[in-house]
Amino acid sequence: MGPLVRQALPQAEKLAVITDDTVDGLYGERFEAVLRGAGYGVRRIAVPHGERSKNLSVLGEVLEAMSAFGMTRSDAVVTLSGGVPGDLGGFAAAVYLRGVPFVQVPTTILAQIDSSVGGKVAVDLPSGKNLAGSFYQPRAVLIDPDLVRTLDPRYIHDGMAEAVKYGCIRSESLFRLYEGLRSDEDIFAALPEIIGACCRIKAALVEEDVRDEGARMLLNFGHTIGHAVEREYQYETYTHGEAVAAGMAILTRRTEALGLTEAGTADRIERVLQALGLPVSVPAPMEALLPHMAHDKKKRGKDITFVVLRRIGESALFPVRGEDVADFLGTGGC
Ligand SMILES: NC(=O)c1ccc[n+]([C@@H]2O[C@H](COP(=O)([O-])OP(=O)(O)OC[C@H]3O[C@@H](n4cnc5c(N)ncnc54)[C@H](O)[C@@H]3O)[C@@H](O)[C@H]2O)c1
Ligand SMILES: [Zn+2]
Repeated sequence: MGPLVRQALPQAEKLAVITDDTVDGLYGERFEAVLRGAGYGVRRIAVPHGERSKNLSVLGEVLEAMSAFGMTRSDAVVTLSGGVPGDLGGFAAAVYLRGVPFVQVPTTILAQIDSSVGGKVAVDLPSGKNLAGSFYQPRAVLIDPDLVRTLDPRYIHDGMAEAVKYGCIRSESLFRLYEGLRSDEDIFAALPEIIGACCRIKAALVEEDVRDEGARMLLNFGHTIGHAVEREYQYETYTHGEAVAAGMAILTRRTEALGLTEAGTADRIERVLQALGLPVSVPAPMEALLPHMAHDKKKRGKDITFVVLRRIGESALFPVRGEDVADFLGTGGC
């Protein structure tokens, strides 16, 4: 890893490693030794783990720590973490001295297949998630699939929900790989292939559409309903991946009933999600979820653009007028 970081950050003398307390306890010392071995001065900055650290006040503390370390514009940030310190550390890199280079070393499945790629960095505001941020690309994303073996199983499955999403929207062959997974050991064995496939899909969509106005929106499959589920349950009952899993299944059952999606697609998605221990429905009825969708950040004006599957591996944007959303999604059980 040391030579790869050096290749990505040839000029830097000092590196701020932004991580959280859990990851720091597992990998911090070893990682610091590797970076020192590559000739860098290193300061580890570990924030408390969890989404609650992704805010402006922790951002301020991280920036102060970088300043106290005496970092100049030619120095750099390395995130060693899941998506929370990844988004926070990337944003710190974007604004410290108006921008210093950074490298992501993602340690969760979600971060390895999704959040570390694409250059969206942000913190949450009290009024909503990811509301203050920037588009700021890392110099490199260095992925070691073995790092995720220490993850809590719930986070393994949480990340796999997003992996299933990539198969659904762009790759039937990737989806078929998921249909063959029988255990977490199977997941670990397939992870290099899964990460490669997901990152290639994300990179292609991001290159087409860096600012999230067209093709990149396909990554939002399952997310309009998923975000509504997260909000309805106050971000407590379901992880993001679990909510997205339910969102993909609920939406696809509906679009299949409407004749927009090839018959049998929802069953295939549900089987894969259930085998991963992910939910395919939620107790709340659609009527309870609808009001949350009105506040979705991805919404333009009054319309909501859903991502609809034609079949596994083939997706399209499907704008629905505000007044038609309730009809489109139907009512009753989810
Ligand atoms: N930037 C983007 O494009 C993008 C995309 C999707 C999600 N996100 C963001 O990502 C965040 C969620 O990411 P996440 O699920 O990785 O959260 P996270 O960073 O909080 O990690 C989840 C938990 O796993 C622990 N952990 C991390 N790596 C570990 C390891 N190797 N071994 C053991 N434990 C480990 C962490 O300490 C934490 O408790 C959200 O804030 C979301 O908004 C960003
Ligand atoms: Zn997501």
